[in-house]
Amino acid sequence: MNQVSIIILAAGKGSRMKSKTAKVLHKISGKSMLYHIVKESLKVTDDVSVVVAHQKNKVKQEVLKYFSNINFIEQNDTNFPGTGGALRNIYVKYNLVLVLNGDMPLITAGALQKFFGIKADITLSIFDLKNPNGYGRVKIQENEVRYIVEQKDANAHELKITHVNAGIYLFKKDILLKYIPKLTNDNAQKEYYLTDIIAMAKKDNLIVKPLLVDETYFKGINSKADLASAESIMQMRIKKKWMLNGITMQLPDTIYIEEDVIFEGECIIENGCRITDRSFIKNSHIKSCSVIENSQVIDSDVGPLAHLRPASQIKNTHIGNFVEIKKSNLDGVKVGHLSYIGDSEIDDGTNIGAGVITCNYDGKKKYKTKIGKNVFVGSDSQLIAPLTIEDNVLIAAGTTVNSTFVPKGSLAISRVKLEFKEGFFYKFFKL
Ligand code: UD1
Ligand code: CA
Repeated sequence: MNQVSIIILAAGKGSRMKSKTAKVLHKISGKSMLYHIVKESLKVTDDVSVVVAHQKNKVKQEVLKYFSNINFIEQNDTNFPGTGGALRNIYVKYNLVLVLNGDMPLITAGALQKFFGIKADITLSIFDLKNPNGYGRVKIQENEVRYIVEQKDANAHELKITHVNAGIYLFKKDILLKYIPKLTNDNAQKEYYLTDIIAMAKKDNLIVKPLLVDETYFKGINSKADLASAESIMQMRIKKKWMLNGITMQLPDTIYIEEDVIFEGECIIENGCRITDRSFIKNSHIKSCSVIENSQVIDSDVGPLAHLRPASQIKNTHIGNFVEIKKSNLDGVKVGHLSYIGDSEIDDGTNIGAGVITCNYDGKKKYKTKIGKNVFVGSDSQLIAPLTIEDNVLIAAGTTVNSTFVPKGSLAISRVKLEFKEGFFYKFFKL
């Protein structure tokens, strides 16, 4: 751990997102931007603070859902709006302070370590961009930063500067305490800009060094378009990690895998799959365009075009196309085509025919279906829950099982007698 305090700025509205959700709560790979940045910060130091104001309770709750050892700083964003206003009430443990914009979900602990090798009073991260649009421009002379000017305040000459402020800074604590109260809001946005500290520090002959960084780690998110490009970068990181661990992915650009998903053994994931939450996939083949939500799949094959909804556990099982499974345990089962299996437990050797539906909901409550070993459920059957089917049972095709129990070894059949009406076709069509 480093002797440095981290402060994450998360109090802004993020109006360019055009959303009711506070900017830092928008998600990348299933987790909020703020979650990603706090997680990486805690790998760097034990002193992490988050500045809150806009939707402060929601923002705090999101942090507390995952982390317990975080301090919150409340910004008075009515009187002191802006990134400088965010730092007026800080309390920090160490003499060095790393300030991070909260809208940088791609940052890693490794990328943050780079700040610590530089001798300066202030070090700030910069990119050199062909298209600097949206970022604050950084004036550099003789390898020192002179000042930062926000895009909205820049003159035509400054707008052409391609060095931009990436939004992470390492300060000596005393510098923050000295200059933050001196900031003014005399600018286009009538905000207190943290970035104005640089020019003030330079006037006092302090050393301000630029640290050239890579946008794949330091990208700031201001719009839904930025969010989408950060998502692709984060997805590629997650998928690359698993591919290097022996997971085969066909056309990985088309696959979406969330941060908490775990693979084990040898798995094949075909194109177009979406695997979310805490799903666990072991020695299995997930065929194209399947969706797996918070479920476990072990020694099985799923899809194409199958949907495992949350809390499904699939073991030694074949799930075919257009099958939806919800909150069910299947062990040694075949569900080949077009079925809905909900709130069920199905045991070894059982075959579920095409188009079988567990009718688990009566409009008010949900009920369970339990199916034993070696049961053959014929196609197009409806199993009305609550229902227990014992072992070695045959359900005839087209049966509506409307009892709560089918005894071991039996046949269940419900059919209307088939009739033939001679010559009906010719009479009906007047041929
Ligand atoms: C900021 C920088 C800009 C830089 C860019 C990099 C300033 C004045 N400008 O601009 O030079 O190029 O980041 O991405 O700092 N926040 C608060 N309280 C507020 C306002 C914002 O906590 O009152 C937080 C936001 O939640 C956000 C971060 O500060 O996480 C940055 O705010 P944002 O409005 O996105 O700043 P930019 O305009 O992008
Ligand atoms: Ca920003």
